[in-house]
Parts: sequence; structure tokens; C-alpha cells
Amino acid sequence: MKRFLGWGATFVAVAALSFIGVRATSYVNARTSTVDTLDFGQTLAIPPLLAPRVQDGRKVFDLRLESGTAQLQPGKPAETWGVNGPYLGPTLRASRGDTVVVRVHNELPEATTLHWHGMHLGGAADGGPHQVIAPGATWEPSWRIDQPAATLWYHPHPHGTTADHVYRGIAGLFIIDDPAMDALPLPNRYGVNDIPLIIQDKRLHADGSLDFSEHSFSPTGRLGDTILINGTYNPHVSVREEHVRFRLLNGSNARVYNLGFADGRPFDLIATDAGLLERPRRLQRLQLSPGERAEIVVGFAPGESVALRSFPPDLGTNFFERRFSGGDDRFDLVQIQAATQLDPAPPIPQRLAAREPVTEADATRTRRFELAEDQTINGQRMDMTRIDAVVAVGSPEIWEVHNGGGSPHNFHVHGGSFRIVQYGDGPVPAQLDGPKDTVYVRPGMTVRFLVRFDHIAGPDTPYMFHCHILQHEDHGMMGQFVVVPAGAAAHLGVGPVPGSGPSPQSGHRSATHASGGGR
Ligand code: C2O
Ligand code: CU
Ligand code: CU
Repeated sequence: MKRFLGWGATFVAVAALSFIGVRATSYVNARTSTVDTLDFGQTLAIPPLLAPRVQDGRKVFDLRLESGTAQLQPGKPAETWGVNGPYLGPTLRASRGDTVVVRVHNELPEATTLHWHGMHLGGAADGGPHQVIAPGATWEPSWRIDQPAATLWYHPHPHGTTADHVYRGIAGLFIIDDPAMDALPLPNRYGVNDIPLIIQDKRLHADGSLDFSEHSFSPTGRLGDTILINGTYNPHVSVREEHVRFRLLNGSNARVYNLGFADGRPFDLIATDAGLLERPRRLQRLQLSPGERAEIVVGFAPGESVALRSFPPDLGTNFFERRFSGGDDRFDLVQIQAATQLDPAPPIPQRLAAREPVTEADATRTRRFELAEDQTINGQRMDMTRIDAVVAVGSPEIWEVHNGGGSPHNFHVHGGSFRIVQYGDGPVPAQLDGPKDTVYVRPGMTVRFLVRFDHIAGPDTPYMFHCHILQHEDHGMMGQFVVVPAGAAAHLGVGPVPGSGPSPQSGHRSATHASGGGR
């Protein structure tokens, strides 16, 4: 008996040690750095601008979602998905006041959706999980652009498979222009002195194909060690003006980047997710969580080269979670090479946009969203047949988001944009002090923002709020809300969608969005 206990204890001890051993090895191996390892040998791809057809005064864009082959690493073809091409998609561009039609034709082997992230538009055109496009089908939403100039993006949003569809390559930019932006002396020649940078991390097999595995200790899902910018690995871009504007999008599934230049040079932040700041803010670092965008203007001297880098982000987690969430990682992203002669640029205007004259005092109510460690919001997982909030159109509200767990999360809202009024205990950091639609929420932190929705989203086409770490979103860290005329708000409650029996409906709908399973 004693001997048995002894062996038992030894066994437990050995098991425990090897478990700790595995964790310790993983801990060491989980850090990634590509700093000073790249030669920036490839020319940065610039997503092409898609010229619309003008039909009855409307701008019509044709998008084809397709599978294809792309060299995510040079010389190594990989199976990917893309829009009008094998990987990523073209940049759409329209002006405030335009009516646009986007014909989205799905040639993928799976049902998907296409969501206009950051767009202020009615729920029926939003492209969320309810607007499923079956393989072979075409979805044709139309809406009037009605918001300030901003850098938005589009990506799939099928419930349960968003992470997979984005990772395979479906995403692109949607730039909105308006006369106020056009009047400012800011760099605005697309691909020349106004350069989009879509930042994504991938995990690739030795043969260059996409690796879909996840690190078992990662609290946020798949993190890659290969960075692509606009789908280009190891890129450089040449510039020939003193000032260059970059439109930055974190189009990654889970990774948070803390952007800055290798030589520490400061730059001017001019716009956040949803548009211009009141004035430029001088920064050396700019952190972007998945789904966030920013526009910056950077100064260059003739003949110099400098790398845009991602430094270890401040995730606010403990050291173990930090390591497995990419909090210790650093990457060289793209090298900017300035020509030996640079065209002069006017100084950056010190006044950019007027702030919307809405304040906290105008808010008609406060809602609370509790992000929990088990990837629920307010204790619930996403249910396509349940409405979680009813909002009156045009009424400013305060939304208060608290991360009660220890893992990284962010929070994104469809259908409108917001202004942060409280970020943890301190003042709103400069980089978040502009129009936003996605915000990082550190463990233990409360973020309060002022939000308003100006379009209708009914019970059949509700808007979403969710964590934009795509694995969390797919696991159900998402909820649905409707936006209705003030009178109707009183009659419509939260709960099951009226007229949809929960069980048959949810079965039917999950059958729709799970149609790509089994791979
Ligand atoms: Cu960018 Cu609901 O998503
Ligand atoms: Cu969105
Ligand atoms: Cu999350």
C-alpha cells in the first residue's frame, strides 16, 4: 500500500512536472519576433480601386467572392479566398450623398455574408449573420452613404464561421469621401501619397499553405507569425512626397498591433475608425485591435528608409495570458523607402473636423455590457432568434462595457459610431479621442461611450454588437439589437424574435450558416 502510494505520488509529481514543462516550453516558444529579420524584398501590393458603373444615378459595384491561389509567401502557392481575385478584395470608394448598390456574387463553396464594417445603414443592407448568401447566389444591397469621410472595411459575418472566412482572405476597404475631407490639404492620391495598409497575421505550413491550427493555450485563438500587408509578405513601398498618409486596418483575427516606426519618429493621427479627429494628435505609438482603423500622416526625408513596426502591445492581461495573446511579440511590417527627391507637402491642417455637438447629458439611457471570461456578453451567447436590446432611432445612449475576465476583448457595434467618454480610470487617450466603432477593453476595465443610431434595423435584420476577436465572436460573444422608431420601442421587448418559434427557427438558421462544416 505504502509502495503503491509512493508510485502514485511519483506519477502525479512526474505528470505535474511534465505539464509545467510543457507550459514552460510553450511559454518560451510562444514569443514571436521578426524584427530585423526581413529584407523587405517584395513590392507592397495596393488593393485596386474598383470603378463603379453608374446606373440611374447610382454607383454599382460588382463583387465576386471566389476561391483561388495566392502566394502568401513568394514562390509558394496557397489556396485562398478573395474578392474579384485570389486574396483580399478591391477598395470601394463613394462619397457622402451617393447611393450605392453592391452586387455580391458568392462563388465560394460555402454560404457567407458580407458586412460593411463601420457603415451607417439600415439593418437589411448591413450584411450581418442574417443576410446569408448561398453558394451561387447574389445579394444586392443598396443604400445612401450618409456619414462623414472615413476608412471602413468589408468582411464576411456568417455566424460561427467568420474567423475562417476572414482568415482565408475575404476582406477589403470601403473609403468614404465627403466635401469637408476633400477641402483639407491632406495627402489624398490613392496608392501614391495615401496608402492603405491592411495588416494581417497568418500561420503558414512549410509549403506556404494556410495553417488553421490554434495554440492550445491561446485565450484569443489563432495567432500567426507571418505578417502580410495588403496580402504581401516582407514588403516595401516607395514614396515620393514629404508627407504620406497611411490608412491602417487591423484585419487580423486576434492579433493586437502596437504600431510605430523603427527609429521612433512621431506621426500625426488624423482619423480614427469612423472619421477625422478635431485636430491631429502627435503620437509615437498607435495600438489597433482587430477591426480598428486609423489614418496617420508621416513625414519623410529624401533618400531614407524606415520600417513600420509592431511593438509589444499593452493588453492589460497577466504575464501568462499576455505571452499567449501575442503581448510579447514584435514584428517588422513594411519598409517605407523615400525617393532621393521628394515633392513638398503643405503643413498638416491643425483643425480637421468639428466635433458632433452631442454630450453625455443628451443620453436618454445607459446600457451595460458585461464581457465575461467564458466568452459571453451579459451572461448570454449569441442566439440568432433572440433580440438582446431595443434601441430608439436617433436617441443618444451611453453604452458601458466592462471586461470582467482576464482575457483580451474588444467591442464593436454595427449601424453607427461612437465617442468614448470614459476609458478605464484615466482620461480618454489621444488615439481613442475620435469617432470610433470598435474599442479594446482591457481586463478589469470599463469603457463608456456615447452612441446614436440613425437607421432602422428590424427584428429580421438586427444589428450586432460583439467582440471582434473573431474566434470569440464565432463562439457566441455577440448579441443582437434592433433600432426602431421611438414609438415602436415601447412595444417591442427583448427576447425571442416575434413570430419566430425559437426551436425550428434556430435549427433552420444554424443549418444555413453551418453549411460549410466538415472541412
Ligand atoms: Cu467587423 Cu460585426 O464586424
Ligand atoms: Cu461591423
Ligand atoms: Cu473577446
